[in-house]
Amino acid sequence: MVTTIHPASQDLTPAVQLLAAGELVAFPTETVYGLGADARSDDAVQKIYAAKGRPSGNPIIVHVADTAAARDAVAAGEWSAAAESLAATFWPGPLTLILPRGPGISTVVSAGRDSLALRCPAHPVAQKLLKAFGGPIAAPSANRSGFTSPTTARHVLAELDGRIPLILDGGPSQVGLESTVLDLTSAPPKILRPGAITAEMLMPVIGPVETLHTVVDQSDSAISPGQHSRHYAPRTPAYRVTREDWARCAPNPQGFAAMLAAAGKNIVLITDDPALTFPPPHETMLLPRDPAAYAQKLYASLRAADELNMVAILILVPEHIDGLWSAIHDRIRRATRPYGELQGIAP
Ligand code: TXA
Ligand code: MG
Repeated sequence: MVTTIHPASQDLTPAVQLLAAGELVAFPTETVYGLGADARSDDAVQKIYAAKGRPSGNPIIVHVADTAAARDAVAAGEWSAAAESLAATFWPGPLTLILPRGPGISTVVSAGRDSLALRCPAHPVAQKLLKAFGGPIAAPSANRSGFTSPTTARHVLAELDGRIPLILDGGPSQVGLESTVLDLTSAPPKILRPGAITAEMLMPVIGPVETLHTVVDQSDSAISPGQHSRHYAPRTPAYRVTREDWARCAPNPQGFAAMLAAAGKNIVLITDDPALTFPPPHETMLLPRDPAAYAQKLYASLRAADELNMVAILILVPEHIDGLWSAIHDRIRRATRPYGELQGIAP
């Protein structure tokens, strides 16, 4: 199959026709790029699992144009007051709500569960596509299962070239991290995946929310597979290093860098601290210290670091943990191994 990239500023008719024919279309959202299929068709949704190599037990988020379409997708009478308030406050936007699934949505979407994940995306191209298609679109992130989510059309091509017919190019995703997933079927509601809509933002609207912190082993079947310990990972072995790690294991980071270089082991350091960098032949990628700007660039940096084909990627864990930083820490943790395991590659 030949994969075409189509500027999203052009006519969306080919994309709509493909979706209507039960084919896949990758499209931009404000969080990350999604891999879309008609959420009402078992066969179409099945193609998502095949193209991504996604485990069949991992359910998919359904995207809707507005709150009315969300109400139609859930089971009769199950669109709750909390859902209504959250939708009114945060939609369109990076918040996914889990509610009991209605009969119109393919059961393949929910991977055997009675629940359904719903999101109304804010990206103008996603909105335009949903309106032109006129139905719900199932769309996980448009990457091969287990790897880093794409934030540009080029990233999608790198992941899915030859596996899907069309990618709509709407420029880089602005948020850069996947949506917050909030389970409204539990009491109190539970954040299954942190994102740009934080617990601090949700609580004034619906009261107490819990945050799920368990990180389960990759082999276990999780409530929300975003909880798998290894997820969002680049292909190059990646490690996270805290300032405490530096102090404990490598009191002299420059000496450590020189030792690695002498052994011909060049690594990429992703850091938000201009004072903590590595000299050549290593590479240093400096990220912004503002959390929104950091989040927007994180996945693109991981990909760029991956493309350098060095022996390892090292990420300096940001100091702050509040608000959006908590989602950033979550993704760094899932994309990397602890610093201690890097010792294996040291000379
Ligand atoms: O920002 C996003 O959410 C992006 C864009 C494309 O919208 N989509 C995305 O989809 O990240 P995906 O499939 O990569 O992640 C969906 C997450 C997974 O952790 C999945 O397990 C969880 O949502 N999920 C989906 N349906 C669920 C359900 N019924 N119950 C519990 N978790 C669910
Ligand atoms: Mg994903």
